[in-house]
Amino acid sequence: MNTALAGKVALVTGGGRGIGAAIAIRLATDGADVAITYERSRDRAEKVVAEIEGLGRRGVAIQADSADAAAVTGAVDRAAAELGRLDILVNNAGVFPTGTVDELSVETIDHTLAVHVRAVLVAAGAAVRHMGSGGRIVSIGSDLADRAPWPGLSLYSASKSALTGLTRGLARDLGPRGITANVVHPGSTNTDMNPEDGPHATSQLEHIALGHYADASDIAATVAHLAGPGGRYITGTTITVDGGFTA
Ligand SMILES: NC(=O)c1ccc[n+]([C@@H]2O[C@H](COP(=O)([O-])OP(=O)(O)OC[C@H]3O[C@@H](n4cnc5c(N)ncnc54)[C@H](OP(=O)(O)O)[C@@H]3O)[C@@H](O)[C@H]2O)c1
Repeated sequence: MNTALAGKVALVTGGGRGIGAAIAIRLATDGADVAITYERSRDRAEKVVAEIEGLGRRGVAIQADSADAAAVTGAVDRAAAELGRLDILVNNAGVFPTGTVDELSVETIDHTLAVHVRAVLVAAGAAVRHMGSGGRIVSIGSDLADRAPWPGLSLYSASKSALTGLTRGLARDLGPRGITANVVHPGSTNTDMNPEDGPHATSQLEHIALGHYADASDIAATVAHLAGPGGRYITGTTITVDGGFTA
């Protein structure tokens, strides 16, 4: 077993399924104890915890709606309390609202920005109260932060591109404390959100240089690199993992 993260504790938001579950499993494989949050998928979150425990690590599943700032702070504090410390925060929880600008409701705009932007700031603020030098913050953006190849993406793209500026600010705030902050921008990744055999897959596949979707483990590998020793001098930047979609 890889021990790059031995002795570390991670929190992954939305870790019960999809990319977040792959990240949680990968960080545990690399030696970390891992807390995950979920909003609705309790059974799937408990299965991920069982898998983490099967790897010989400690795991905990915490119900916390990322749209609720108090719940986000509570989840960070509970993860640190139950697992004894906090070294790695992965802001992964996300939704995929689509619609042209005249179709978007104010409720949808507020909810998306709360989950994708406010929760990241709130979680980072809470997490750094527990982190020492060597702490890591990784947020999951999207390659649609840089390009909007189709109509209907203004809200999603805005919420994900906000992470770029937010993360530059975090790097400046936290660099003096030895804590890094970065964004990983996935491309088309085979999950419930964007199944590789779904109705919108063909138009994505046409533009992916490598010709196929990412597996969630491909995104997790880059997160693990940033969270591990190889990431110690990387901060305030974005890494795109999209098979060349935006090339
Ligand atoms: N799949 C892609 O092609 C792709 C591409 C680029 C970026 N991304 C980004 O990658 C991240 C993960 O996406 P995914 O593909 O794994 O999506 P997914 O399969 O739909 O999973 C979404 C995850 O986010 C959690 N979540 C959603 N709303 C939440 C809330 N209000 N509070 C707490 N947790 C919440 C879900 O928890 P519950 O199950 O409990 O609801 C679930 O664990 C997202 O930020 C997404 O924008 C995905």
